[in-house]
Amino acid sequence: MLEETNIFTPIEKKRFHAKNRLVRSATGEFMTDQNGCPTEDLIRLYENLAKGGVGTIVVGAAQVLSFGDAESDNFLLRLDSEECVKPLKALADVVKKYNVRIWQQIMIDDFEHKDSSGKFRPCPIDEMSREEIDIVINAHIKGAEYAEKAGFDGVQIHAAHGLLLSRFLSPKYNHRQDRYGENPLLIVKEMLWGIREKVSDEFHVSIKINCQDFEKGGLTEEGCIKYCCELSRAGIDSIEISGNETSRKGIVPGVNEAYFKNAAIELKKLIDTPVILVGGHRSISEMNKLLQNNNIDALSLSRPLISEPNLPNRWQSGDTRPSRCISCNRCYIPSNGKCFMDL
Ligand SMILES: Cc1cc2nc3c(=O)[nH]c(=O)nc-3n(C[C@H](O)[C@H](O)[C@H](O)COP(=O)(O)O)c2cc1C
Repeated sequence: MLEETNIFTPIEKKRFHAKNRLVRSATGEFMTDQNGCPTEDLIRLYENLAKGGVGTIVVGAAQVLSFGDAESDNFLLRLDSEECVKPLKALADVVKKYNVRIWQQIMIDDFEHKDSSGKFRPCPIDEMSREEIDIVINAHIKGAEYAEKAGFDGVQIHAAHGLLLSRFLSPKYNHRQDRYGENPLLIVKEMLWGIREKVSDEFHVSIKINCQDFEKGGLTEEGCIKYCCELSRAGIDSIEISGNETSRKGIVPGVNEAYFKNAAIELKKLIDTPVILVGGHRSISEMNKLLQNNNIDALSLSRPLISEPNLPNRWQSGDTRPSRCISCNRCYIPSNGKCFMDL
């Protein structure tokens, strides 16, 4: 990377062209209707983000498979049927007016089985049948097809934060005796290849993955790097490095920012595939240092953009004070996408 690269340098990589290196990391806003479609308020929130100067937006996780009473899905976005396409298109169209790239994050939080009382319960990874693994793979492939139909530039497979795929990739939860246990990454690779067969050549496929699980017996940094190298060879378009303990509290600008950076730095020594790093970016000086010294391609932000959707424009205009986000995590309490400081 050139010495003068900074967060506002355009990114020009295969299937990843954006006006700058700032990515809005997927952030669920709890602002859907009962069918998992975006509300008018959510569309306005995304318009504000797009106006605020970020180069790429990853829309908060959308469920690609529902179980039982779909209305109980925590008011997450849904992308599990043709009916989801039109409402999401309204959101994508608004963002694209501002020359911002937009990817939809796709996920399944749990695979569920009916118990003896007829209630749906999460199924352990080891108990999923081969057919159920195919259902998971196909749901992600369909989700990507719907996202492209809705006008998105790409999707991001959510394989982090202890959700279904994250547990599938973790030696703590995956003790399967079949080929999905011998090589847990196979489920993601089959998804990736399946998506590529169905979408256009320009459509971006990203993954968000844990740099480590931060739990005994879980995925280690070494394991993550091995997976990422394999994903790079398999043709993934970008990798966003995250981790469990996702949104750490107590971040002080210039002191403990970029708390997952180690894995991203090590990974960029091994692969050319774009790496996006999330977690605790708060000051422009630290962010530029990361880009200049480590070959990391882009940096993603969640809480700072809840607090100040206009942060990229503010920085670019010369007001380089750090984000005002104090990492208190009160944004996890549904509040119409607003920072508690503005309530
Ligand atoms: C309210 C809220 C909702 C989030 N929803 C998602 C999500 O849907 N998908 C995801 O991968 N991460 C989600 N995250 C995690 C963020 O994308 C990000 O990884 C984390 O907050 C660390 O980055 P930050 O320090 O810039 O906030 C969420 C975070 C917050 C605060």
